[in-house]
Amino acid sequence: MAWQPRAYRPAEDGIDPDVVPQVRLESGSRMPGIGLGTFGSDHAAPGEVAEAVLGAAEVGYRHFDCAMVYGNEPEIGQALRAVVAGGIEREALWVTGKLWNDKHAADDVIPACRQSLADLGIGYFDLYLIHWPFPNHHDPGVDVHSRAANARPYIHEAYMRTWRQLERLVELGLVRHIGTSNTTIPKLELLLRDARISPAANEMELHPHFQQPELFDYVRAHGMVPIAYSPLGSPNRPERDRTPEDTVDIEDPVVMRIAAAHGVHPAVVCVKWAVQRGQVPIPMSTRRRNYLANLRAVTQDPLTPEEMAAMAGLDRNCRLIKGQVFLWREGQDWRDLWDLDGIIAS
Ligand SMILES: NC(=O)c1ccc[n+]([C@@H]2O[C@H](COP(=O)([O-])OP(=O)(O)OC[C@H]3O[C@@H](n4cnc5c(N)ncnc54)[C@H](OP(=O)(O)O)[C@@H]3O)[C@@H](O)[C@H]2O)c1
Repeated sequence: MAWQPRAYRPAEDGIDPDVVPQVRLESGSRMPGIGLGTFGSDHAAPGEVAEAVLGAAEVGYRHFDCAMVYGNEPEIGQALRAVVAGGIEREALWVTGKLWNDKHAADDVIPACRQSLADLGIGYFDLYLIHWPFPNHHDPGVDVHSRAANARPYIHEAYMRTWRQLERLVELGLVRHIGTSNTTIPKLELLLRDARISPAANEMELHPHFQQPELFDYVRAHGMVPIAYSPLGSPNRPERDRTPEDTVDIEDPVVMRIAAAHGVHPAVVCVKWAVQRGQVPIPMSTRRRNYLANLRAVTQDPLTPEEMAAMAGLDRNCRLIKGQVFLWREGQDWRDLWDLDGIIAS
């Protein structure tokens, strides 16, 4: 049976949203400095994720990271409706949405955004991102060796046609800010050159073992907020998304030592580090104890400067979400997606 929302009830042991750090955007808007991820992948059904959204709002979350491809926007919409019916104004929420790869064509962008808004039961997105810079669709759950028949490299002119439609969404009042995800410095250079409305944020993989210092600095220097996905190192991602060389942030001895010193789970240390470093983490959890701990983490008992320095030394350049399914030619390596030599691969 479809998930049925309960009535929204603020939690007595929750966190006052006003004490949660906020990040100021170039527009002057304020984004809550931590959000709840909503990608259930193989382990959390849409109803479970929606229940987490409702529960997270009850404990004080006001920022939710959504995407059409997560396949749970109708259920999350039920939860958001319950939150608003419970007295939380829409304006107090921050909802991010993402355009999936099979909706890059100019005619598809606005209908796709409208569909997500209708499913989520909201009139506008605070932030709308192009999920990946490639239009290469793949079905959820496919093997990493799967390739779309029409897969192709990044083509800047095509990306700009999509971006123009995102700009149009702003003009239509359906979206307040637009941004990028999974992009690189060479691609951002072109976008910043050609955009009429500049990206307000870039959503990127960021966790202690993958700190992306160059891109992180670039994003901030160009007026974008770095939103940190998989901020705990995505410990429950499916087997197909793992490779033997992947490392585990929450088992890092330094993270574990700092966690013990603070009396918290190592995941909580990753969250504290993220916010103190200046990125906006969007950890996913369907367990109340965990999402509450992650929110509380950013309001009390910060890491010391020495601990922050120790965390900075943990980078292992370990990308977990490699994006193999976006490759467009046989024999390519996933590194070809990430423009490591500063040149956009064609
Ligand atoms: N833009 C993109 O392309 C992109 C890509 C990937 C992800 N994302 C976004 O980023 C979000 C987060 O990434 P992610 O889900 O890959 O990984 P993540 O947030 O790094 O890790 C999530 C896992 O950590 C566990 N966890 C959470 N808090 C915990 C705590 N305090 N103690 C112990 N375990 C804890 C959760 O398990 P329990 O549920 O059992 O607590 C969950 O399975 C996604 O949900 C999605 O919204 C975006």
